[in-house]
Amino acid sequence: MKREIPEVVGKVAAKDKKRILFVCLGNICRSPAAEGVMRHLVETRGLTDSFELDSAGLYGGHAGELPDRRMRVHAYQRGYNLTHHSRPVRMSDFDDFDLIVAMDHSNYDRLRGLAPTVEAQEKVVRMIDFVKGFPQLDCVPDPYYEGAAGFELVLDLLEDGCVNLLDNLSV
Ligand code: 4NP
Repeated sequence: MKREIPEVVGKVAAKDKKRILFVCLGNICRSPAAEGVMRHLVETRGLTDSFELDSAGLYGGHAGELPDRRMRVHAYQRGYNLTHHSRPVRMSDFDDFDLIVAMDHSNYDRLRGLAPTVEAQEKVVRMIDFVKGFPQLDCVPDPYYEGAAGFELVLDLLEDGCVNLLDNLSV
């Protein structure tokens, strides 16, 4: 699968406030980690006022929970403190955010299916499209049933992809 920066990113880059929602299945592993990595980058670059960041899940079964303990531990070892509480995706997210970043194909297809308008559909993009390394992968894989290496891989992918996403949004 060829990776390309989606066109909508250019439109979001032109906005004073860029509102980004990261989405996975449970909102306890990948998307809260993506939110944490991006928040850290935005703060490091002094861009906090230009961004609104959040994350959500397509499966609501973990609503209210902190990220999975394994995800928190691996993230903390790299300097990220994940404090988000899981919440399900809601229809208002398609209005409230400019960019909705899906972690895998299933997340992407389901979000595109839920989007109420063509404009909302175009806000849905894939995290992997921003990842420069890892050419063998076509998504950010679900680490839930994996060991430590699965969580480390998620963080490697997110650190790579978030830098490129932010570079494309702050031109
Ligand atoms: P996430 O990982 O989508 O990266 O938060 C998962 C967390 C929980 C479940 C699946 C994936 N689950 O089935 O409960």
